[in-house]
Amino acid sequence: MTYIIVYVLVFFFSFLSYMFKRRNSKRLYKGIKLPPGSLGWPYIGETLQLYSQDPNIFFASKQKRYGEIFKTHILGCPCVMLGSPEAARFVLVTQAHLFKPTYPKSKEQLIGPSALFFHQGEYHLRLRKLVQGSFSLDAIRNLAADISSMAASTLNSWQNEGVVNTFQELKKFSFEVGILAIFGHLEAHYKEELKRNYIIVDKGYNSFPTRLPGTPYRRALMARKRLRNILSNIICERKEKKLLEKDLLGCLLNSKNEKGEVLTDEQIADNIIGVLFAAQDTTASAMTWIVKYLHDNRKLQKAVKAEQMVIYELNAEGSQPVTWSQNRNMPFTRKVVMESLRMASIISFTFREAVADVEYNDYLIPKGWKVMPLFTNIHHSPEYFSDPQRFDPSRFEVAPKPNTFMPFGSGVHACPGNELAKLQMLVMTHHLVTKFRWEVVGSESGVQYRPFPVPMHGLPARYWKECSG
Ligand code: HEM
Repeated sequence: MTYIIVYVLVFFFSFLSYMFKRRNSKRLYKGIKLPPGSLGWPYIGETLQLYSQDPNIFFASKQKRYGEIFKTHILGCPCVMLGSPEAARFVLVTQAHLFKPTYPKSKEQLIGPSALFFHQGEYHLRLRKLVQGSFSLDAIRNLAADISSMAASTLNSWQNEGVVNTFQELKKFSFEVGILAIFGHLEAHYKEELKRNYIIVDKGYNSFPTRLPGTPYRRALMARKRLRNILSNIICERKEKKLLEKDLLGCLLNSKNEKGEVLTDEQIADNIIGVLFAAQDTTASAMTWIVKYLHDNRKLQKAVKAEQMVIYELNAEGSQPVTWSQNRNMPFTRKVVMESLRMASIISFTFREAVADVEYNDYLIPKGWKVMPLFTNIHHSPEYFSDPQRFDPSRFEVAPKPNTFMPFGSGVHACPGNELAKLQMLVMTHHLVTKFRWEVVGSESGVQYRPFPVPMHGLPARYWKECSG
C-alpha cells in the first residue's frame, strides 16, 4: 500500500513539475519566446504520434499548424523543427559552430566514436578533408569502369533468380562499391569476412540497444569487435608493404597533421566502418526508388533508355564498361536521378544539438535542445517545387533556388560521398534500362522506414534480359 502511495506521489509531483516547465516554455525566456508547438505528454512527449505514422506526415501537419519553425518533444528530448531553407542554412552552414552533431550513444558505439560525423572542429575538419579527397571527382574517375562492371554482374545475377528483393540486392552492390573505394582491390577472403560481420552489425544497428546475451544489439557489438580485428590485419599488411595507395585507407594511413601526428589504428578503423555505414543503405535506397519510378512510368523509362542506348551502341552493344566521360554526359538520366533524390528524400531530416542559447527569427533555441532541419518538407513544398508530388525531371532544367535542394545535406557535414553515390546510380540505371526488363511483384505500394525510406518490402521484382538491346 505504502509503495502505491509513494508511486502516486512521485507521479503527481513529476507531472506538476512537467506542467510547470511546459507553462514556462510558453513564457518569455531571457526576453525571447520559444517557438510555437506542443511538447506532448510528460516524458514521452510526441514520440508515439511520430512513430505511429509516416514521420513526414507528422512533420507536415505540424508545419501546417505552427509554421516553419515549431517545437516538439521526441525520445526524451525537447526539439525544434525547422522547415524552411533559410533556417536549414542557419543551422547547417552560417551558424554551424553553434550546433553540434548528436547521435544516440548506442549507435556511436557500434560505428566507433572517432568516426567523423560525431565530431566538430579541428579533428572533424582533418578527417573530412581526407574523406572528401578520396571521393572527389578526380579520385573516383578511376573507379568508373570497375563500378560499371560490378553493376553489370550484379544485374546479371538477378535474372533467372525468380523474385528478387531489389533493396537487399542493391545493398550488396553498394557495399562492394564502398569496399572498392575504401581499399581498392581487396583480397577476397578479407572482403568475405568484412561482409559477414558487417551484416550482423547492420542488423543490430536499428534494434533495441540492450547488451543482454543473444540480442541483436549484443551480437552486433561482438561482430563490431571482429570487424576491428579484420581491419587491424588489413592496416598492418598495408603498413608493411609501404605502398602509397590513393584509396581512402591509403589517405588515412598517410595523413599527418601540422604537428606531424599520424592517425591511430582505432581512428582509422572507426572512420572506415563509418563510411561503409554512411554509404550502403543510403545509396541502395536511392537506387531502389529509381528502379521503382522507372517501372511505374513507362514514358520516363523509354526516355532514359533512348539516352542510354546511344552509349550502349558506342560500347559495342554494352560489352564494354561505361567510361567516366560517358557518365558525365547523361543529361536526362542525371535529372531523373536528381528528381528521384528529391521525391524520395532518403535523409528526411538530420539532428543537431544547440551548444548555447541561440536566437533565430525572434525565437529562442535553448542550449541542449535538439534541432532538426526537415529536408523532406523543403523538398516537397509547393513554394519551392511546383506540383511537388509529380515526378518531373524537367524541373531540374533550371537550378533549384538556393538551399531548397539538399539530398546530401549542406555545410560542414554535407555528404562527401555524393559524387560516388551519383556515379553508382547513373551506371546502374544504364545497365538496367539497356539490357533488362523488370516487373514489380505484389500490388502493395507505400513506404517502409529502415530507417531510410524504401519502397514496400524492398521492392520485390522479377528481372530478365531483353532479347535484343
Ligand atoms: C544517395 C546516397 C547518399 C545520400 C542521400 C547521402 C546523404 C547524406 C547526408 C544528408 C549527409 C549529411 C548528414 C548531416 O548533415 O547530418 C551525409 C553525410 C555523410 N555521408 Fe552521405 N549520402 C549518400 C551516400 C554516401 C556515400 C556513397 C558515402 C561514402 C562513400 C557517404 C558518406 C558520408 C559521410 C562520411 C558523411 C558524414 C560527413 C561529415 O559528417 O562531415 N554518403 N550523407
